[in-house]
Amino acid sequence: MAEAALSLENITCTFVSRDDRSQRYTAVHDTTLAIAPGEFVSVVGPTGCGKSTLLNVSAGLLQPSSGLVRVFGEPLSSINARAGYMFQGEALLPWRSALDNVIAGLEFAGVARAEALERGRDWLRRVGLGGFENRYPHQMSGGMRKRAMLAQTLIRDPDIILMDEPFSALDIQTRQLMENEVLDLWMAKRKAVLFITHDLDEAIAMSDRVVVLSAGPGTHPIGEFHIDLPRPRDVAEVRTHPRFVELHAAIWAVLREEVLKGYAQQKRV
Ligand SMILES: Nc1ncnc2c1ncn2[C@@H]1O[C@H](COP(=O)(O)OP(=O)(O)O)[C@@H](O)[C@H]1O
Ligand SMILES: [Mg+2]
Repeated sequence: MAEAALSLENITCTFVSRDDRSQRYTAVHDTTLAIAPGEFVSVVGPTGCGKSTLLNVSAGLLQPSSGLVRVFGEPLSSINARAGYMFQGEALLPWRSALDNVIAGLEFAGVARAEALERGRDWLRRVGLGGFENRYPHQMSGGMRKRAMLAQTLIRDPDIILMDEPFSALDIQTRQLMENEVLDLWMAKRKAVLFITHDLDEAIAMSDRVVVLSAGPGTHPIGEFHIDLPRPRDVAEVRTHPRFVELHAAIWAVLREEVLKGYAQQKRV
């Protein structure tokens, strides 16, 4: 098999309480997951199971308690410089315009201002924000802010794209439009994508492969499904494909129990 773009090998993450060292919570236990170059992989699992934790580990923002992350074969020891990371919440700087937000990463990487601005304007156009470069985040809709975040992530042309429930706060129409745009951008460049979502429909519509995580504690993969739906896909249309319905039923059979467990845990606290 060709070398994985990103490989998580036997990852365990235990959080230790700062106030009471005897209080520990193992969010992720012995998780192994590899993503090939150009592959679009979604990870689904109940709220609070450890999805963001796995993404933070992949980004090199969180050191696992044990296990190894490899990036194109190389062990990862600090920030994953080959990856672009689109956060779950709002990550735009409120005092910066759309354009200045989009080029922030280039600035930090030391790219000359003129070149950064040119690339920034190009990316704003690509995500449909051509006329909005001077808008501040509070002057943009939720969908526009997400587009700006997408441009901010992709402008550095990362070989690995990490996305943490990027569209979960959007209304369904905006969300489907953006999912299709992400697929178009991905089809053009074919980077490795690790896409986190709690939405099974979204996971199936977008991905080559869907990995199901168990509820915590000790979250780990409990199922893996190849999504053999034809591409290019329209995320709204593909949902009516008989194979989509079949895959959905098969994956939900595995996921359902975990969602119920996760829900019960949330109610307890
Ligand atoms: N820094 C941390 N310290 C303590 N517990 C944490 C920390 N980060 C996450 N957790 C716990 O680990 C579990 C998984 O969290 P997370 O990965 O954010 O879940 P998800 O993204 O699947 O909703 C949760 O129970 C959460 O409370
Ligand atoms: Mg999360």
